[in-house]
Amino acid sequence: MAHLFFEHVGSQPSDLVLEIGRMWAKDPNPEKINLGIGIFLDEKGKCPVLKAVKEAETFLVENELSKTYLPIEGDALFLEETKRLLFSENAPQVAAAQTLGGTGALRVIADYLKLEWNHPIYVSDPTWANHHGVFTAAGLEVKTYPYYDRTTYTSKKKEFFDFLEHVGKGSILLLHGCCHNPTGIDFTQKEWDHILEICLKRGLLPFFDIAYLGLGEGIEKDRYAVETFYKSGIEMLVAFSYSKTMDLYKERVGALMIVNHSHTVDAMQSTIKQIIRRNYSNPPAHGALVVQAILSDSKRKKLWLDEVEEHRLRSVEMRALICNELESWIRHKKEFQEAKGFFSYLGISKEMVLKLREESIYLLDDSRLNVLGVNGSNIARLKEVFSRLKHG
Ligand code: LMR
Repeated sequence: MAHLFFEHVGSQPSDLVLEIGRMWAKDPNPEKINLGIGIFLDEKGKCPVLKAVKEAETFLVENELSKTYLPIEGDALFLEETKRLLFSENAPQVAAAQTLGGTGALRVIADYLKLEWNHPIYVSDPTWANHHGVFTAAGLEVKTYPYYDRTTYTSKKKEFFDFLEHVGKGSILLLHGCCHNPTGIDFTQKEWDHILEICLKRGLLPFFDIAYLGLGEGIEKDRYAVETFYKSGIEMLVAFSYSKTMDLYKERVGALMIVNHSHTVDAMQSTIKQIIRRNYSNPPAHGALVVQAILSDSKRKKLWLDEVEEHRLRSVEMRALICNELESWIRHKKEFQEAKGFFSYLGISKEMVLKLREESIYLLDDSRLNVLGVNGSNIARLKEVFSRLKHG
């Protein structure tokens, strides 16, 4: 009999966001509604391929000459265009790499920090659950800063600014560049300016996770924080994703950028390359080539910009529809109404969330919902189920 090496292995809890998506996919009810995972859904409840992406793919099929490896840090033109998109210039003092989505960027940066700046990393309370997982797995000490009150469903910005004045020098501050996940509550431009001032004064290291560019208030406004911090000369880290802004989810295409104003930018780049080489050698090409074929061609870029704006407007419209039709279920209407991007908490109990799930309506246990799961065809059913549950 062969030796049973793995007889005693334990199991891990499944990831809630993806698990709820799986539950929804398996549900045979034709009227099921997916308000869980953060993906763009159109009026038919489908996550489409953008026209700009289709055009870029056609171009690639006709023009791609080789399937040889990309460099460890990824495609050069992709990185150049991504820098322009985020900082509005081909930033020279930046160590950069193409990554496996935004999560890959977070993880490579976290591995880098563990090696070179092993200070506590503060994430918002609450934040995207996987932030805790990724940073802990990299061996960083993960702490939280006050952001949002889950009893009143309102923001805690005052407490946040107090925290900034007292947190230890050198701490790393994970900030959502726009469209905060899960609350949808963002900082205003004035507040970002103030955060920058405190980071500069107190020696805090900002680390932006920006995964929803263009889907909050449009590209220019959504990149305000990243661009303004960059232009101030502060050193900072950025994890960027094309999953949502180009609907390229399964292509896993993202980028990391570390702004370094000392003479060590080449050394930094070499360590990032070593981290990548030892993990997965070099990144896949398809998604990044699609991105560069869009961003480096003015016609395709314009098409993408129009499409991302359409997506954004749809999220605004669906949020307004929820506010009108499901008003009595929203715990704090003003915060819900003013939130940006895909997410907000409804502010209902887990018990109610589970009751909704029995009705094939899926949102996260903490009542985070993706406003794009709602559409003109399912709103009547949502209203009916919600009012039935509410009244008995
Ligand atoms: C989400 O929060 O729903 C998305 O970022 C998808 C994910 O991977 O969790």
